[in-house]
Amino acid sequence: MCGIVSYAGNKDVIRRIITGLKSLEYRGYDSAGIAYMKDNKINIIKKEGCICNLEKEINYDDKASIGIAHTRWATHGKADDINSHPHRQGKITLVHNGIIENYDILKKELIKKGYIFKSDTDTEVAAAVIDDLYNENNDMIKAISLATEILKGSYAFNIINDDISDKIFGIRKDSPLIVGISEDGNILASDIPATLHVTNRYVVLDNYDIVVLDKDHVKFYDIKGKEIKKEVKIFANDNEVISKGGYDHYMLKEINEESEVVKKLISLYTNSGKVNDDLFDIRKYKNIDIVACGSASFAGQVGKYYIEKYANIRTSVYFASEYRYQKNFFDNDTLVILISQSGETADTLAALKLAKENNIDTLAIVNRRDSSIAREAKDVIYTEAGIEIAVATTKAYLAQVIVLLLLAIKGINNETEILEDLKLLPNIITKYINDYDYENIADLIKDKEHIFYLGRGIDYYLSMEGSLKLKEISYIHSEAFQAGELKHGSISLIDENFGVIAVVTDKSICDKTISNLKEVSARGAKIIAITNIKDDNFSDYKILVDDYSEVLNPLTVVIPMQLIAYNTAKKKNCDIDKPRNLAKSVTVE
Ligand code: G6P
Repeated sequence: MCGIVSYAGNKDVIRRIITGLKSLEYRGYDSAGIAYMKDNKINIIKKEGCICNLEKEINYDDKASIGIAHTRWATHGKADDINSHPHRQGKITLVHNGIIENYDILKKELIKKGYIFKSDTDTEVAAAVIDDLYNENNDMIKAISLATEILKGSYAFNIINDDISDKIFGIRKDSPLIVGISEDGNILASDIPATLHVTNRYVVLDNYDIVVLDKDHVKFYDIKGKEIKKEVKIFANDNEVISKGGYDHYMLKEINEESEVVKKLISLYTNSGKVNDDLFDIRKYKNIDIVACGSASFAGQVGKYYIEKYANIRTSVYFASEYRYQKNFFDNDTLVILISQSGETADTLAALKLAKENNIDTLAIVNRRDSSIAREAKDVIYTEAGIEIAVATTKAYLAQVIVLLLLAIKGINNETEILEDLKLLPNIITKYINDYDYENIADLIKDKEHIFYLGRGIDYYLSMEGSLKLKEISYIHSEAFQAGELKHGSISLIDENFGVIAVVTDKSICDKTISNLKEVSARGAKIIAITNIKDDNFSDYKILVDDYSEVLNPLTVVIPMQLIAYNTAKKKNCDIDKPRNLAKSVTVE
């Protein structure tokens, strides 16, 4: 993962770099570093921890001409000052997002050549490879190009060479890199938001494109060193300002945006009580594989439920990290749906490539425009949730579920009726954000060591996400479990200290779920229920959601689950927007 940003300009070079870097902190936040040229000399500052630690060491008055910076999510070598980027070997200083898979072999060869390594990183090896090639060829573009033949794995590099003190070089392979172009300096970064404080004109690099920029020019080359032209795009959505908008956390702000996201999806993808004709039609396929990671895969589970129920198509959901290495049956009538907020998740991208290699139709459901998955898939539907900053996804997850529901109901008999129901969801969201005492629920669970999120059918699929949300930001161990399966072993864990949250909205199976919950109560556990059953006899504490319709009822639990997680993490003083060990965009396998 990691975020990289570089800038060449006339003024405020360091400040502009750090501003960009802060907007990339969602990609990693265990250490950060910067290298900049001042009076033709390189200065490197690296610090463990947040960018705020790095800032304490920076002198913003330094007159830098160019600089490169990095925020890290450690892969090779622990998070400390030495392993932080930038890394320097010979004349080369660089920052890297990705993984060099053959770094170990290369390192041994380079040590024989006299290179001495200070860090445990794969990145420092890449710096030495490029330095070695530059020394042989005395040509940076050639050195970078030859390095791509040697380095295996994924990378986006921003590179400075001591000999060429006004230029920054960049290249990417399977990790994103964006160039922001302006009259007032040029910027290179992992993601568009990191360039928006400089310009809204940007170029998306393709694999093996090489870019060279200084304060006045940006030039692109192909891997053979031939200059090429790239399309300059305009980032039009000026509303997407990255700020907490008065909320304590991005996560809370993003939960509050869910109502607008649902409205937007309904207005974009439906018309007069029908799903738009031009929205992708899944009905010609006999099998659907949904492939994704994390919350996106849990959105896929809810999608599977909807697609099987309403479109009557056999659907399987796989974690992308497994899909690539398992036996898949790529029949002609199979569709592979890739779901991803960032559109850059390495495993999901690799699964997409695998499906394409097997000539299988691919549909991406993606939030970020111009992301790799959006560009590589045969078809794409955007979830239009806007920029999501909190590492724990909320609005993008719900948007993925809604898009899957629209795909499932397109063309079915009661399509109009379902869409009428769906139109109620934005108001339900607003109401549920305010109506319940989530702090009270948080008090009940904040000291638990273990929690089961129990449900059956779609309530179980939703619980998967509720459970992930809770554990990733509050650090309470939580598992989603099919309530009916508990008695086959796992119920032995239950005692009066075990936390249980039950999701009970599906009328078709709730009697069975209630019996299972009774078994849990009988073993001493107290049950917190999110349910639409008014006079229940199974919960000890309850969030009573409204009873609307078959399609809407499950969706009403999303907000309560997200706010239970949020409030619990808040009570525990956790770093809600940046939970430990995580990153939002996982660009390594
Ligand atoms: C990371 C994030 C999760 C996200 C998953 C998939 O693990 O922390 O919130 O669900 O990646 O990300 P994607 O961008 O592909 O949806």
